[in-house]
Amino acid sequence: MSETIQTIFRYLHRNPELPAMEENTTNYICEILSRIDGIEIERFDTCYGLLAKLQGRQPGKKIVFRADIDALPIIEATNLEYKSQNNGVMHACGHDIHISVAIELARKLAEDRERFNGEVYFLFQPEEENALGAKKVLASKKLAGMDLTLSLHTNPGMNCGEIGIKSGPITANVDRFRIVVDGTGCHGAQPQNGRDPIVAASAIVMALQSIVSRNVNPAERAVVSVTHFDGGKDWNIIPAQVILEGTVRTFDAQTRTMVKEQIEHISTSVAEAYGTRAAMEMTDGPIATNNDEKITVIAKDYGLKHGYAVVEGEQSMVGEDYAFIQREIPGLMVWLGVGKGPGLHNPEYVADARAIETGASYFAGLIQQLLNER
Ligand code: NI
Repeated sequence: MSETIQTIFRYLHRNPELPAMEENTTNYICEILSRIDGIEIERFDTCYGLLAKLQGRQPGKKIVFRADIDALPIIEATNLEYKSQNNGVMHACGHDIHISVAIELARKLAEDRERFNGEVYFLFQPEEENALGAKKVLASKKLAGMDLTLSLHTNPGMNCGEIGIKSGPITANVDRFRIVVDGTGCHGAQPQNGRDPIVAASAIVMALQSIVSRNVNPAERAVVSVTHFDGGKDWNIIPAQVILEGTVRTFDAQTRTMVKEQIEHISTSVAEAYGTRAAMEMTDGPIATNNDEKITVIAKDYGLKHGYAVVEGEQSMVGEDYAFIQREIPGLMVWLGVGKGPGLHNPEYVADARAIETGASYFAGLIQQLLNER
């Protein structure tokens, strides 16, 4: 007797694990999948997660469906009866829904495997939240030779069961910056004896606001946020150093480069104008997703023809490391509505689990159509 998908979802929600620690989650998925007829499972050498394979009737195309499996360092603040039992860790990005959709999809396709040609792979990818998982999976070479890839992400801004589809990017290029402003500390009563980095850093924060309004093409979208301002310890001492941190979000590669260069230019020049020095360090995060135009059209048509609530997909400023997989294998990530409520990464995030069934049957049908078409 196999568990219902709702039981599986609740187990996953109750037992979230942080990136690079998904051992129990991987073993659990493995156990559930091993009860499905025709599924072959492979593990990765350098990370948790697994790749499961289902062979259709005859050789043909290879499609990989990707679900990420990790959770976040968040203290869950919901009243769910299946609330997290791993204190301080929460499935607040809906990856428990993603795993459940992939498992249910594997069950459905296993039943139908005499009805399609080719191979379907189910990638249970670890370490999405630290943006390392997709890269580790790609480095394993286990995805070599795949023809296309599909994935989904829950969206708590959409009604339960709605499917948001859009070609091009639906998540952003994510970059992180750190600016160190060095001045000269002195007595708070004698500013003439120092070089105040607090005033210089404040001017930098204000000047950075002009990048999006004055440098970015109005037809493009970008965000520059300073999220961390650290300097000084006491009320009567001007410190020697201030540290600023923040993030840049863009969709277009050229805009991304321009914004990064402009942050460096503004911070060093403004710092100099105030007699201080600034040094900027930029850390690249995930690149923007890029949904394949042709697959997007097929996926939209399929959904509309079969009675799914297909809507235009949102372009969100969040990051997704699935983009690294899409860079090598053409693919599509869709948004799956899980009912409107608190956003992703919010301690009160709750997903309506009825969306699992919708997601699984949608992808089961779409994958069979993609595999059987010539
Ligand atoms: Ni996520």
